[in-house]
Amino acid sequence: MRILLFSGKGGVGKTSLAAATGLELSRRGYRTLIMSVDPAHSLADSFDLETSLFHGSTGDPLAIDKTLAIHEVNIQKEIKRHWREISSYVISVLRTTGISDVEAEELAILPGMEELSAMMYVNQFRREDRYDVIVLDCAPTAESMRFVSMPTTLEWYMKHIFPFQRGIMKAVRPLANRVSPVELPPDSYFGNIKDLFSRLDGIGELLEDPNITSVRLVTNPERMVLRETQRAFVYFSLHGLTVDGIIVNRVLPSEVTDAFFQEWRASQGKILEEIDSYFAPVAVKRVPLFTHEVLGRERLEELARSLYDGQEDPAAITRTEAPYTFIKTDGRYEVRLQLPFAAKGEIGLFKKGDELVVEIGTLRRHIGLPTSMASLTPGRAKLENRVLTVEMKET
Ligand SMILES: Nc1ncnc2c1ncn2[C@@H]1O[C@H](COP(=O)(O)OP(=O)(O)OP(=O)(O)O)[C@@H](O)[C@H]1O
Ligand SMILES: [Mg+2]
Repeated sequence: MRILLFSGKGGVGKTSLAAATGLELSRRGYRTLIMSVDPAHSLADSFDLETSLFHGSTGDPLAIDKTLAIHEVNIQKEIKRHWREISSYVISVLRTTGISDVEAEELAILPGMEELSAMMYVNQFRREDRYDVIVLDCAPTAESMRFVSMPTTLEWYMKHIFPFQRGIMKAVRPLANRVSPVELPPDSYFGNIKDLFSRLDGIGELLEDPNITSVRLVTNPERMVLRETQRAFVYFSLHGLTVDGIIVNRVLPSEVTDAFFQEWRASQGKILEEIDSYFAPVAVKRVPLFTHEVLGRERLEELARSLYDGQEDPAAITRTEAPYTFIKTDGRYEVRLQLPFAAKGEIGLFKKGDELVVEIGTLRRHIGLPTSMASLTPGRAKLENRVLTVEMKET
């Protein structure tokens, strides 16, 4: 199975590109599911489907073709299905603060529930071998980052906090419930968490396996959007996910010669160059700004042709190595960088803002540094088996 995760800043075109990719995959005969992980779903809208047909449905995948289904995770249904114990406890706590029942129910939808629910489905569908490819249409960057960091956080919680907390609660509940203004969670609450966690078992490995999961970052040729894309790239790499493609959407087509767009064209040209050099060796695709909104199946198919030209298989595995990794050993930080076979020559290293720039002969790589390393400067570097290791040190 393959998982293709589309992420990027708000409004850049994630849903349209995920939908177009799903169509192309299904045209090729893959059993495809496009799943929306964004609480503000727009997948059905993108296909221009009768939404009443969709939202009235059970919150399960809806087949729209022989090999294509779409799935908007319905959080209300998920709460009833999976989160009952947890949310009823949260609601009971919120009620004690005097807020209304409706408000309490609204607030009991905790951040992350959507993402976790989506992950449970991915895991379930994989076990059932229901689809060949799952395309994930994610919420804007911040939430999709939460999506990928969740398995690690949960694992940590389950290992270090959960047993402890559950044990303590068992011991103190009879006494505490008599004196505390807020009822402590019942043991079934912990049972529910444990059950949820077991449903997520193995999802971290799925996301980190480059033969299964690939991240496609969607961006626009604009400075502010690019900044966020760069941060997302660092974040995904840091979490062990492989970004195997950048899609620059809404590039002004060359036939637009109107004076009004001159400045736009110049700035887009410059940013497009920057994008190519920043993300190399990850492939960068460009999609033009269309004369119309991308709405409905025909328009999505047009977008798919522009993306894949009927030639390229969106599910193909093109990268199995993270372009770079960050390591901390014995309090020392290191950046490890995969270099192409041909890289030869003098190694030049310097810092530019919060980026590390590596030059070898004609090859140049920009590496966005995670916050913990941003203030460090490059020290010694060594090249071994096509891997360049750069030591980062305090100045
Ligand atoms: N290349 C394009 N040319 C013209 N219109 C486009 C193009 N790509 C996307 N659009 C339109 O831009 C709007 C936003 O696109 P889309 O919903 O795919 O973005 P998104 O990144 O999913 O947004 P959100 O962050 O809100 O989920 C839609 O109306 C879509 O039809
Ligand atoms: Mg969207």
